[in-house]
Amino acid sequence: MSSHGSPIPMSSNACGPLSGVANVPGDKSISHRSLILGALSVGETSITGLLEGQDVLDTAKAMRGFGATVTEHGDGKWTVNGVGVGGFAEPDQVIDCGNSGTGVRLIMGAMATSPITVTFTGDASLNGRPMARVTDPLALFGTQSVGREGGRLPMTLVGAANPIPVEYTVPVPSAQVKSAVLLAGLNAPGKTIVIEAEATRDHTERMLAGFGAEISVEETDTGRVITLTGQPELKPQQIDVPRDPSSAAFPVCAALIVPGSDVLVPGIGLNPTRAGLFTTLREMGADLTYENEREEGGEPVADLRARFSPDLKGIEVPPERAASMIDEYPVLSVVASFAEGKTVMRGVKELRVKESDRIDAMAVGLRANGVEVEEGPDWWIVTGRGHGNVQGGATCASHLDHRIAMSFLVLGMATENPVHVDDAGPIATSFPIFEPLMAELGAHITRSAS
Ligand code: S3P
Repeated sequence: MSSHGSPIPMSSNACGPLSGVANVPGDKSISHRSLILGALSVGETSITGLLEGQDVLDTAKAMRGFGATVTEHGDGKWTVNGVGVGGFAEPDQVIDCGNSGTGVRLIMGAMATSPITVTFTGDASLNGRPMARVTDPLALFGTQSVGREGGRLPMTLVGAANPIPVEYTVPVPSAQVKSAVLLAGLNAPGKTIVIEAEATRDHTERMLAGFGAEISVEETDTGRVITLTGQPELKPQQIDVPRDPSSAAFPVCAALIVPGSDVLVPGIGLNPTRAGLFTTLREMGADLTYENEREEGGEPVADLRARFSPDLKGIEVPPERAASMIDEYPVLSVVASFAEGKTVMRGVKELRVKESDRIDAMAVGLRANGVEVEEGPDWWIVTGRGHGNVQGGATCASHLDHRIAMSFLVLGMATENPVHVDDAGPIATSFPIFEPLMAELGAHITRSAS
């Protein structure tokens, strides 16, 4: 089932060369943070290029529930009139974050040090995901929580009335956990310190600094030590959201595997904590270039040019790169299916607790389409079949996971037989224009009964 309505089955058929310009939507991570930090500022934040996917719309609605005024002006332009750090009102309704782990975990952090009680829920995918990774560190501030067995949503949090700042070492590589602790630290007096052994996406740190918080990051032998001074007055900002590298991954990877393709994906944020996929693809022999490299809003940005790459080779992806491409392994496994040799992906246990168990979802679907996949608890290996040799023909389950749905639709663009997806509805959470954008490039995706 789609998160909001009936399933939307789709089929992807082999197509001719993909060509043209793919203007992908705004970055999902930065969009959530723009709304939340805007709501925690005093005054009006204005945002252009906001991703208007369901995940972000659910965060916008949640911010209204806490008392912020969030207004849509059309064409990706939004304003947020915030209530200030510590100014969140108690919502009179349950906060429904839909499919979004980022939404719920960041919002839990943002409310955790205010004396309010909030009940959170989501769709079947989100209600199956672990929340103790966030509520455990929030308990150190004095936040109480009660949820379902295994720390699952629906869950109620009672914010700490007299929060104390914490020092916390994040036990799993997770930007969501790191960000939840930092957002909670905003309303605690004194210094909150977060230590992460592996660098994860650093948008929260960059944006907190941009909004005027006192925050420092030190690289040490044990990892990144982030120190935030609590109870700042955040100043409203003008934010231009860069286009999402995680969405760019789909037209880029499609162009690499469809013969004759040449696609330009302009204005992509290439923050090093996000760009691991593109480095990996280049190591595999992809014809992928960065054009017009520049800086926008403090983030490195470039236009990506991807062309059909006939000589892709399987590689061993360095495990230390995992955090910088964690959302891109599903579509990487599709490209790996068309490479020569094995692509080995290790150190990726986190893939098992995303919107779906992404290793399992991809392994089952790829095998059904004629690709050999081996897997273990925190690793998987795809044995490529080379171009023109991937059979296709199967129906794949998307498990309420947008990236699984899009990955299998990309697969079908270069297989011998069409690939079917049982429910492509979840794509609307992150990439609502995926279908028309891919059609414009030349893809043959049809809505069909699978
Ligand atoms: C995100 C962090 C990552 C990523 C998610 C977005 C964020 O999750 O998978 O899509 O915006 O902070 P984890 O923190 O669970 O790794």
